[in-house]
Amino acid sequence: MRLANSTDSFGLVSRAIHWGMAIGILGMLALGTRISDMQPGLANLWLYSLHKSIGLILLALVLARIVWHRISPPPAPLGPPGGMEQRLARAAHLALYTLLIAVPLSGYVASSATGIDVMLFDRWVLPPLAPVSAAWEDAGFAAHGLLTKLLMAVILLHVAGALKRAIGGDGTVRRMLRG
Ligand code: HEM
Ligand code: HEM
Repeated sequence: MRLANSTDSFGLVSRAIHWGMAIGILGMLALGTRISDMQPGLANLWLYSLHKSIGLILLALVLARIVWHRISPPPAPLGPPGGMEQRLARAAHLALYTLLIAVPLSGYVASSATGIDVMLFDRWVLPPLAPVSAAWEDAGFAAHGLLTKLLMAVILLHVAGALKRAIGGDGTVRRMLRG
């Protein structure tokens, strides 16, 4: 089984990161929505820590994915080059990458502004990204909430596009599943 990508297929590394991140992101959208309805307290503080830790790992994973794609470029989307479907797929991927960075960063900035240490699995304290301030906290969480809604919309578009291609049988989903 090939690890690297080729001009017309996704290797194991890209596929593992894609599906690992897809599961992680969907779980985090659900967990984030759940905790934002809660009153933070001692009983549920672990859910906040879990959300932050997984979010930071997903941020590291998207950066790793970008570096990996510089080393081993992914295949171009299928379809006629420069065609409408290819352009739409590229735009959706670019939007996904931008949001996969902006969403966890905004959560990190907002959490830093609360004055509570941002920790990785209750073990490693990470440096704060913003001063302790109610204004930064409010703006950061407002941005985090808005960006996550945008992410949900782009994911819906992305999955609809993937399903349309799967129904059309052009091999797009097959090559992301099986290479
Ligand atoms: C890919 C990563 C992430 C996703 C998909 C995600 C998703 C979400 C979502 C959907 C919400 C609910 C927003 C709302 O409806 O207002 C939320 C809330 C929250 N997120 Fe994230 N998040 C991510 C990363 C992070 C990171 C890295 C941190 C901090 C280091 C963080 C801290 C928080 C906190 C503290 C809340 C609760 C805010 C409140 O109480 O209203 N998130 N997240
Ligand atoms: C929450 C989730 C998801 C995220 C964040 C996500 C993100 C991405 C990104 C960034 C790419 C571009 C890869 C590249 O750099 O070339 C991609 C490709 C792809 N995704 Fe997703 N994805 C998600 C869920 C899904 C789901 C559920 C499906 C299937 C129904 C899917 C099917 C595909 C396919 C088939 C490709 C390859 C497109 C091509 O060959 O051009 N994705 N995804």
